[in-house]
Amino acid sequence: MRVQVAIIGGGPSGLLLGQLLHNAGIEAVVLERQTREYVLTRIRAGVLERGTVNLLEQAGAADRLHAESFTHDGTVISVNNKHFNIPFHKYVNKPVTVYGQTELTRDLYDARELGGAATLFNVEDVIINDVKSDSPSIDCKIASESIHIDCDYVAGCDGFHGVSRQHIPSDVRREYEKVYPFGWLGIISETKPVHEELIYANSDRGFALCSMRTDRLSRYYVQCDANDSIDNWSDSAFWDELKQRIPEQFADTIETGPSIEKSIAPLRSFVCEPMQYGKLFLCGDAAHIVPPTGAKGLNTAASDVHYLYNAFKQRYQHNDDEALTSYSQTALKRVWKVQRFSWWMTSMLHRFPDQSEFDINIQRAELDFLRESEPAQASLAINYVGLPY
Ligand code: APR
Ligand code: PHB
Repeated sequence: MRVQVAIIGGGPSGLLLGQLLHNAGIEAVVLERQTREYVLTRIRAGVLERGTVNLLEQAGAADRLHAESFTHDGTVISVNNKHFNIPFHKYVNKPVTVYGQTELTRDLYDARELGGAATLFNVEDVIINDVKSDSPSIDCKIASESIHIDCDYVAGCDGFHGVSRQHIPSDVRREYEKVYPFGWLGIISETKPVHEELIYANSDRGFALCSMRTDRLSRYYVQCDANDSIDNWSDSAFWDELKQRIPEQFADTIETGPSIEKSIAPLRSFVCEPMQYGKLFLCGDAAHIVPPTGAKGLNTAASDVHYLYNAFKQRYQHNDDEALTSYSQTALKRVWKVQRFSWWMTSMLHRFPDQSEFDINIQRAELDFLRESEPAQASLAINYVGLPY
């Protein structure tokens, strides 16, 4: 097999890049380790920046999103029993779109099938060859059958635990990491969302988040110990804890019900530099991870795709390598700003085990300033709705 771009990973990054390249007439194949059904069992985030929506529209995968998503012009921040709204539209003319990543991934798979784009599933033993040469290639297996793919470029879209990043030599690769001393216990319930906007709650008992998927599907999180287990959390224990962390007016009205999904996610910040090596280009979680507090994981994967897609278009349509050569530098400039915002939101809203009374007062002052200061709210809004590409 020969393609112009071989994409490792059939999550949001790989699918979005593959679909954009396909629509631009650039030959690409997506190699996914799992089955489509397995990928679609993953429950992830649900807030999309305008830029992400634009890319999905370009990919021809935004029809259901426009029919079923919510548009939010603000969010609620609460501190124990008090809360305030941050009206994004007052500071920046860009709303966010609330639409589950699982649905977005499904839409991308459907668009690829409709357009005849090549996605290979159950791909095993991926080996990337000769990324420093002009003729890289990939060897892999499907059901024990060996497959060899010649290509011009390889896009590593295989997530944090993928193989691509490891193909950047350790003496070239620089990794930056911050592991947070807590996790998020999340549930999905077939209940009416407690509020029409998201609620980010700082409480003496820890962080909580009230989110949603549809008007009958709610997504809630509570901060938990980093090594906690869902076995320790019955549905009633979850609801009781959530109610103690959000303002009474919401706790008194929230509709509770059985969880149809329950999981614990660790929180970490991670960046790999550079995001390219020879003909290998990293995209999304393969290159960086953010704590979910700022809803930036999927959206930063999308901004990487924007840069890489346009760089490939420059290369193939105008024989111009400049954007490819500067991809890592361009992408990392925005990645680090997103890392800062995600770290800031996480630091402001969570209880840290080693927090002193001084630390807690600093956190309260930060939240007080955010409540009172329009420039502070504008800064949150500009980052939350999405920095420019
Ligand atoms: N070979 C082929 N596919 C692989 C390999 C491999 N060796 N290793 C991993 N994969 C696949 C995974 O099965 C997964 O489907 O790569 C895909 C990577 O997808 P994600 O981990 O979702 O990463 P990404 O596409 O960058 O999306 C980032 O999705 O998971 C969320 O929190 C993440 O919101 C962020 C967004
Ligand atoms: C979600 O709906 O899953 C979600 C929303 C906002 C976040 C994180 C997760 O910051």
